[in-house]
Amino acid sequence: MNVDRDRIIIFDTTLRDGEQSPGATLNVDEKLTIARQLARLKVDVIEAGFPYASPGDFEAVQKIAAAVGTQEGPTICALARTRREDIEAAGKAIAPAAKGRIHTFIATSDIHLEYKLKKSRQDVLAIVPEMVARAKSFAEDVEFSPEDAGRSEPEFLYQVLELAIAAGATTVNIPDTVGYTTPGEFGALIRGIKENVPNIDRAVISVHGHNDLGLAVANFLEALKNGARQLECTINGIGERAGNAALEELVMALHVRRQYYNPFFGRPAESTEPLTNIDLRQIYKTSRLVSNLTGMLVQPNKAIVGANAFAHESGIHQDGVLKHKQTYEIIDAESIGLTQNQIVLGKLSGRHAFQTRLQELGYSLSDDEINKAFVKFKDLGDKKKEVTDLDLESIVNDEIQQPPELFRLELVQVTCGDRSCPTATVTLRTPTGEELTDAAIGTGPVDAVYQAINRVVKMPNELIEFSVQSVTAGIDALGEVTIRLQHEGRVFSGHSANTDIIVASAQAYVNALNRLYSALQNSSPGSKKSDRLSEAVATS
Ligand code: KIV
Ligand code: ZN
Repeated sequence: MNVDRDRIIIFDTTLRDGEQSPGATLNVDEKLTIARQLARLKVDVIEAGFPYASPGDFEAVQKIAAAVGTQEGPTICALARTRREDIEAAGKAIAPAAKGRIHTFIATSDIHLEYKLKKSRQDVLAIVPEMVARAKSFAEDVEFSPEDAGRSEPEFLYQVLELAIAAGATTVNIPDTVGYTTPGEFGALIRGIKENVPNIDRAVISVHGHNDLGLAVANFLEALKNGARQLECTINGIGERAGNAALEELVMALHVRRQYYNPFFGRPAESTEPLTNIDLRQIYKTSRLVSNLTGMLVQPNKAIVGANAFAHESGIHQDGVLKHKQTYEIIDAESIGLTQNQIVLGKLSGRHAFQTRLQELGYSLSDDEINKAFVKFKDLGDKKKEVTDLDLESIVNDEIQQPPELFRLELVQVTCGDRSCPTATVTLRTPTGEELTDAAIGTGPVDAVYQAINRVVKMPNELIEFSVQSVTAGIDALGEVTIRLQHEGRVFSGHSANTDIIVASAQAYVNALNRLYSALQNSSPGSKKSDRLSEAVATS
């Protein structure tokens, strides 16, 4: 591998660390859909999962490696603890990829060694070269991470990294696992590694960081100035606890402020050569896709991709922007693929126009998916005069977000009003093909629908999040409902869009319940992801 690359390597871990966000569990098809979009976004590396964690993770990594890991496509990476069985699973899962990577890790901070691993520093110094060499027997491209590097003793860290590189690691990743460091400290840590690890020139320095103090992006930018060349990040910043560094924020900071960053890469300040390979116009679409499929909403004031990121409320700002855009706008919304609400199609548009527009928007769907999406489009065209790109995107996202259809919503009917008790009737087709109807009252129409569905499905759960967002402006807009429910400590999400928000709410709830049901069906002893993950946490 050329370690002197002149562009920053964008390593996306949405499907691994991002998927560790509570409730963000994705099925294999959804992971594949996101991986395809990440390839369109042109990330350099996709960390597709942790194959040893569960058979589902293994399958997802293997399928992504086969379908997305082409010679021109991204490198497909799999995570493994420094354990033989993990490394073997990772090696097998990435085998179909033209460019595969194994990412193996072990903690190096005293607090992790003493309380979590119950291992000595000497143990780590013995394990690392052996397991990196083992990973090397499966893949030429091996990444090593000293977990909790941000709180590890630097001299010990240098020793571990030197051994990892000597054993064949081509990337050494420095994680701020608990999001504890400050930008100055993190930059100094990277500089220390560059200056004190004798063989560091044989590896790419990477950074990985969590956002517990809201500093992950700032830490990474400082790390770049001190020699890091790979950034590990997620779409919308999703991930464990407060999440990871957000890809879109890093990439746009490097784009908008490239005159500032260029000299750190040996370029003249005025160079217009991009610092990353990312196709900026895919950013917004990727953000929406990940949000819809994971059920993790993007906060309205989120940098770059939040609903308000380009909205100007105050009169002074509006006046300024009308006179000259850059008075208050440093980013052109179109540069991240946020098109105006273009009217593209109407109810008379045919299948060909529909398919062509989807292709122009970057979607490549199977015939079956196009057929299903077209039915929804026609249905929407009947209710809504103008169907915009955002509507199309919502229809397609709904179509490709395919939780296993165990229960199917056949009918939902509600009566409500200020003088009546909200009452709902629902009919569901059960996994055995039976049609069951029940009715319930509730505090409002949505509550009544959910009570009625619960009477049919009989799966105890607590609704912990419910949100409705309108896709476009106007009374006939599609309403997107995203919900999260909890069952025995596990969180499941559901998403749906409809011009009738009661129908969207019912469908989103059924989608989440289907995920819950499918997870329970798949969790046989020995294959339960949560068990394997807790084991991983205890022994990595
Ligand atoms: O946060 C972390 O330390 C990780 C490692 C596995 C890289 O996710
Ligand atoms: Zn992490």
